[in-house]
Amino acid sequence: MVFKILTFLSIFIMTSGVFLEFSIVSDESSWVYVASTLSEGNAAIYTTQGGWATKLLDASWIGGKNAMNVAGNSTITKFFYIAGIPESGKLSVGADDYFTTYINDKTTNCRIDSGSFTLSAGRLCDVFSYLVNGLNKIVFEVKNGGGPGGLMFRLVVTSNL
Ligand SMILES: *[C@@H]1O[C@H](CO)[C@@H](O)[C@H](O)[C@H]1NC(C)=O
Repeated sequence: MVFKILTFLSIFIMTSGVFLEFSIVSDESSWVYVASTLSEGNAAIYTTQGGWATKLLDASWIGGKNAMNVAGNSTITKFFYIAGIPESGKLSVGADDYFTTYINDKTTNCRIDSGSFTLSAGRLCDVFSYLVNGLNKIVFEVKNGGGPGGLMFRLVVTSNL
């Protein structure tokens, strides 16, 4: 299993231990399934389409290699590792059109019916309560109504070793 664990990592020494802050972003190490069953393998990076305003540090617009203009649902999955005890988790998402976020197989509070791609900072969600020490899985179910579809996300995690 190949995945990029940490896009960037900052380490600060604190009295209570080692404080980690790192981000998980949409990139080619995410996996894409179209209509939940057809694997497109690793995500493709998309060029920004007209109307896509979301810009998130280090994140790219992604989707299936072949399915950008397919109407219907795709899922985009990424695994990541949290060393130590999670202390915070702030998720930003832009999706064309609808999305639901699942973390560690739980439906989260991070979902929107439409229009997140028009928000420059995306849809902001606190997902701390879904994060666990060790291996984590984040899944986005993205529904494209027609025309170009895509997803951009950035999850900033802090933890304490
Ligand atoms: C497609 O995805 C949207 C957004 O997550 C969700 O609301 C809807 O229930 C999904 N539809 C199906 C048929 O899975």
